Amino acid sequence: MKKHYAVTGELIFATILAVMLTTVAWAEPEAGSPSFHPKELVIKRAMSEEASKCISCHSKHTPGIVDSWKLGKMAHASVTCYDCHVVDKSSPMASQCSGIKGTDTYISPMVSSKTCERCHPQEVKEFLQSGHARLSSAAVVDAKKLNGKLIRLQHDLEGAKFIGNTGSSTNASRASGCQMCHGGQVELGPDHKPINNSWPGGVGHRYPDGSIGNCTVCHTRHQFSVAEARKPEACASCHLGPDHPDIEIYTESKHGQIFLTHGEEWEWDSAPDAWQPGDYTAPTCATCHMSGIGELSTTHNINKRLKWDLVHPKSVIRSGERGDGNAGAPLMRKVCANCHGPTQIAKEVATLDDAVALYNFYWDGAVKMKEELAAKGLLKKDPWSDGFQELMYYLWHHAGRRARQGAAMNGPDYAHWHGFFQIFQIYKDMQAIHDWRLKNNRIEELSTVMSTGPV
Ligand code: HEC
Ligand code: HEC
Ligand code: HEC
Ligand code: HEC
Ligand code: HEC
Ligand code: HEC
Ligand code: HEC
Ligand code: HEC
Repeated sequence: MKKHYAVTGELIFATILAVMLTTVAWAEPEAGSPSFHPKELVIKRAMSEEASKCISCHSKHTPGIVDSWKLGKMAHASVTCYDCHVVDKSSPMASQCSGIKGTDTYISPMVSSKTCERCHPQEVKEFLQSGHARLSSAAVVDAKKLNGKLIRLQHDLEGAKFIGNTGSSTNASRASGCQMCHGGQVELGPDHKPINNSWPGGVGHRYPDGSIGNCTVCHTRHQFSVAEARKPEACASCHLGPDHPDIEIYTESKHGQIFLTHGEEWEWDSAPDAWQPGDYTAPTCATCHMSGIGELSTTHNINKRLKWDLVHPKSVIRSGERGDGNAGAPLMRKVCANCHGPTQIAKEVATLDDAVALYNFYWDGAVKMKEELAAKGLLKKDPWSDGFQELMYYLWHHAGRRARQGAAMNGPDYAHWHGFFQIFQIYKDMQAIHDWRLKNNRIEELSTVMSTGPV
């Protein structure tokens, strides 16, 4: 199923600097092949003298950008700086760099999914339907989310307002952390440039023209490579750590073992939708969650193949904005069926369903204990200085996610030692605090929970 782009080698600048006409058509899988879905994208375009000026001047001033752009497929199709960075004078993001001062051309360093949409409408549509878009930055900027608790976390607590910090550094934790993974909201100064460290941002970043999404999180600029996005490293910058250790789980799974030992020999550059087993011998994150495989087409909606919500405090089958879990489950099974037989697939599906049920059983028990304490006034108002509530957070947000995601993606160490083993330990500590408070009818003075939580 391998199909490669015709790569023309080094771009010869003398030719592209001259005004030229290019016709670009998509490499499509053959009609009748399982992953055939036509993309009617034919572009006839000219590179203007202005577009070539951006490139020639920027090759002196920002050679690093021009060099990586040259390595990408879009440069070969003469998609230039001009196509992505020039905006209308009336755009809220319009400004001018020193090279175009005094001309009628306006640019912006900010480029959202809306720009890509002109030429990649299908990818952008799917992306915008996914949890990577609006929902992702909502976690960081939506004051209504959890009654403003997340905003308070970022500024008051992590930003140290609660001990008297003021000034721009109260924003430092958000700008260096949450925003770089989730995205936030760009704020503009009078010169139409971003202020308050509000740009750049992560996957669901929101732009001043109302558009959403930063496509460079998986296809980094300025190469915008499909091969890069297919590798697990493309997801690893965000999907890691104690609360969603997906790259760690992958690395310890059999799939990751095969990727780590044989990945260098794999074919990463097959045409979109035509990257199939044989090009690789084990799946990467992209294979299971996004890429075309067998009869499934590529999707930029990472929610499409999911059944469970494995991230929130109680796992439920996905519905509404989070996708359709009943439709998603059979799609994920179709991914596995390219390489596994029905007996093992049935076992893996049942293992995940059981792991979800076990986690939910613990969570329901924790909720019941919390309700009993609340009814007797035995919870502190500030959950971050109340041992019981701190443990409940770790039960869900750290150990509980590790157990569920470890079980979903065959990472036995995360499912067990960082997962269910920890859950049972945390639960017993919560029980002890619950029982002590009921017996003594008071809250213990100091939290017994270490600030880093159980790891
Ligand atoms: C296919 C679209 C595309 C093309 C072509 C393109 N860019 Fe970009 N560029 C982007 C995107 C996307 C970003 C990230 C914007 C964001 O985070 O909002 C970006 C960011 C930038 C930035 C700001 C980030 C930084 O590192 O300072 C500069 C400067 C820039 N591009 C210059 C150029 C130049 C010069 C060229 C031509 C050689 C070019 N770009 C070609 C899409 C493009
Ligand atoms: C004659 C040289 C020259 C030309 C022509 C030129 N630029 Fe620039 N550009 C610069 C320099 C120098 C900078 C660094 C910041 C500055 O001096 O304004 C820059 C900065 C930028 C930035 C980053 C702005 C920021 O706020 O970080 C972008 C994006 C950009 N140029 C895009 C373009 C595009 C698109 C074109 C073509 C329409 C273009 N430039 C034409 C020299 C040039
Ligand atoms: C003016 C039209 C145009 C715009 C705007 C545009 N693209 Fe493209 N893009 C193309 C064309 C044409 C190709 C196919 C190049 C080829 O096959 O040689 C392509 C190919 C790609 C590829 C596949 C590269 C590979 O390695 O196979 C990616 C990824 C991509 N674009 C991402 C983006 C992103 C992200 C943006 C917005 C920041 C964007 N494009 C904006 C026209 C555009
Ligand atoms: C290293 C990247 C990273 C950082 C930093 C980060 N997150 Fe997340 N966050 C993620 C990922 C990845 C998920 C999705 C995990 C999953 O689906 O299992 C997530 C999930 C969430 C969720 C649950 C999904 C939802 O939207 O309801 C919330 C809420 C959230 N993060 C808020 C925050 C806030 C607030 C901050 C900063 C205080 C933050 N995150 C920092 C990567 C990050
Ligand atoms: C979560 C990571 C991720 C994000 C975010 C992402 N992509 Fe992709 N993209 C991929 C992967 C993986 C592939 C390769 C799919 C395959 O194997 O065929 C791909 C392929 C593509 C292609 C090649 C054609 C196709 O559909 O397979 C284009 C064009 C593209 N992406 C554009 C975009 C645009 C535009 C955005 C922003 C809206 C974007 N991507 C955001 C991971 C991502
Ligand atoms: C720049 C950071 C970033 C990158 C890179 C990234 N993600 Fe995510 N991803 C997130 C965040 C943040 C969330 C949580 C969104 C929310 O708040 O609901 C998330 C959520 C998800 C979800 C769950 C969606 C939901 O609604 O619950 C899946 C599945 C996912 N990502 C897969 C991937 C895959 C596969 C890749 C790589 C091809 C990838 N991600 C790359 C940040 C990222
Ligand atoms: C063998 C296929 C496979 C591979 C490889 C894989 N995943 Fe998954 N992933 C799954 C399955 C199956 C689920 C659970 C689906 C369900 O809900 O039934 C899942 C769940 C997830 C979730 C939880 C979504 C939520 O919030 O409920 C995230 C996030 C995620 N994967 C990201 C990744 C990342 C990042 C990688 C690579 C480091 C990766 N996955 C590798 C199959 C895979
Ligand atoms: C591209 C092929 C491919 C796909 C797709 C794939 N796997 Fe695998 N998987 C393998 C290979 C190869 C092994 C290693 C078998 C061995 O241990 O020798 C493996 C091993 C496993 C293992 C470890 C147990 C064992 O058999 O050794 C589990 C569990 C597993 N896969 C589950 C899944 C699930 C669930 C899916 C779908 C969500 C999936 N796989 C998709 C190729 C694949």
